[in-house]
Amino acid sequence: MSCVVITGSARGFGFCQAKKFKELGYNVVISDINESNLEKALLELNNINGNNTKAISVLCNVTKKDDLEKLYFKAKEEFGGVEIWINNAGVNSPDKPVYEITEKEVEFIISVDLLGTIYGSQVAFKHMLEQGYGKIYNVEGYGSNDAMMMGLTMYGTSKRAVTYFTRSLAKESNELSGGKVNVCRLAPGIMITDFITHANGDKTKIELPEKTKKIYNILGDYPETIVDYVVPKMIKNNKNDKQIIWLTNRRAFTRFLTFGFKKRDFFKEK
Ligand SMILES: NC(=O)c1ccc[n+]([C@@H]2O[C@H](COP(=O)([O-])OP(=O)(O)OC[C@H]3O[C@@H](n4cnc5c(N)ncnc54)[C@H](O)[C@@H]3O)[C@@H](O)[C@H]2O)c1
Repeated sequence: MSCVVITGSARGFGFCQAKKFKELGYNVVISDINESNLEKALLELNNINGNNTKAISVLCNVTKKDDLEKLYFKAKEEFGGVEIWINNAGVNSPDKPVYEITEKEVEFIISVDLLGTIYGSQVAFKHMLEQGYGKIYNVEGYGSNDAMMMGLTMYGTSKRAVTYFTRSLAKESNELSGGKVNVCRLAPGIMITDFITHANGDKTKIELPEKTKKIYNILGDYPETIVDYVVPKMIKNNKNDKQIIWLTNRRAFTRFLTFGFKKRDFFKEK
């Protein structure tokens, strides 16, 4: 039995996906740059015993291709192969105009959000091609559909490029594997995680303006809700170049129509 590998999965959406895959009977490899969160996450995962499956954790910085190679080999050594590989690790931009973003900040965002996804896809694709099967899911985000907004330009630039890269790699997969390696996109919408209030690898706090909070209260969801919908679809999918979307136009429209009756407040003091 092979496994699912998820980058940046010590917390947030990645960790919620890991829990859902484990519940549904998958062996899971979680990985992250944050060692203490990774240890805590593994303890929690081991309490979920979907069909006697197993979880392991591997420290991995997605900006280092060598770390990603080691992650793949650890998963293969433990579980014999990788069925699903999810490039999920990501960081937010500091909420300021581009001209104020430092060189270091630009490099940091691009290296985690874009290069991390490219390196992770290269590693997974190469080995899946040898293996003869597999699915890669790259996580999209604000900007993937060309949306633009002050404060999210650098993040959106990376995610727009992630979308192009993933679709183009899917095309390569058609030629190289007859589409047996599925290269796909996962669009989770707006998630209420630490991500929305932190930038620069958690070093900078983002104060969300009231109007942003209002939009998040209408369109956002906890990742636990989103994985219940997307993970079964990721498992079932066997088409190359598939996009799995949570916040469809129809869902967003319904949220705006009904928000007067279904008030939610993710930001109220606990
Ligand atoms: N939260 C949202 O509203 C939202 C919306 C759309 C897409 N996304 C995307 O979903 C993914 C997960 O976001 P989240 O909300 O769970 O964020 P999060 O900040 O809660 O989790 C991200 C995880 O990635 C890890 N990470 C950061 N840099 C890393 C690196 N170099 N190597 C390995 N791991 C690293 C962090 O330690 C953290 O555990 C990201 O790709 C993000 O861009 C988030």
